[in-house]
Amino acid sequence: ETKPRIPVLWLHGLECTCCSESFIRSAHPLASDVVLSMISLDYTDTLMAAAGHQAEAILDQIGEKHKGRYLLAVEGNPPLAQDGMSCIVGGRPFLEQLREVASDCLAVVAWGSCASFGCVQAAHPNPTQAVPVDRVIHDKPIIKVPGCPPIAEVMTSVIVYLLTFERLPELDRQGRPKMFYGQRIHDKCYRRPHFDAGQFVESWDDEGARKGYCLYKMGCKGPTTYNACSTVRWNAGVSFPIQSGHGCIGCSERDFWDKGSFYQH
Ligand code: SF4
Ligand code: SF4
Ligand code: F3S
Repeated sequence: ETKPRIPVLWLHGLECTCCSESFIRSAHPLASDVVLSMISLDYTDTLMAAAGHQAEAILDQIGEKHKGRYLLAVEGNPPLAQDGMSCIVGGRPFLEQLREVASDCLAVVAWGSCASFGCVQAAHPNPTQAVPVDRVIHDKPIIKVPGCPPIAEVMTSVIVYLLTFERLPELDRQGRPKMFYGQRIHDKCYRRPHFDAGQFVESWDDEGARKGYCLYKMGCKGPTTYNACSTVRWNAGVSFPIQSGHGCIGCSERDFWDKGSFYQH
């Protein structure tokens, strides 16, 4: 209770803001507890009261006062084409802001598939040359929390882990926390018995769909997707895409946007 709250600077590059939308819906722990009692969220353009030059000045203030002791959270990613001109924040390329703020941070948390892997704005032919944050930050530890967006409780749990143990969680080869990305959706999917029994949905709204059969033949990417959706689930543990009747599109996997996850005409 007496420990000073760690400053967190949450930057936004090319993104859709749904990682922030997910984060604020965390129920265990409550996002409000994280923001008001555990960390000092000093900069995030979505939630902060300050705006304009006043807001941008906070980055310098925290950088000087807490050099080497603040966390950098990144939502979205930097586009490299035309010197980063496709994403301007505070009158300058996000690429510049990201490099500057990263230079004195303790560690980087890459929120979502945008910051972790590139996501839809990096889809072929990637005209803005959007790249994941580890393409421009090479000298800091980076925790990747992929998903489009990541599960709210996974996001807040990563923060709580960092604060509680004062070290990074164990990461896999891709830089994701093993505790949340160590298993495939398929490994814990409640429709798995139907997969094992060869009972599949063959077309939308067929008899198999009504009976809750496996969605593999409808394109479910659960067998190749590492995420916690089938265990932690969404909306405070209520449901997840497969439970809502649609297969997993593999939104936490590298290159899912170019690998046939979406419908094509
Ligand atoms: Fe939005 Fe997905 Fe990017 Fe998060 S990872 S900012 S949800 S596009
Ligand atoms: Fe696996 Fe998808 Fe079938 Fe679930 S619905 S058992 S994740 S293929
Ligand atoms: Fe994404 Fe698949 Fe989970 S689409 S939300 S990883 S079930």
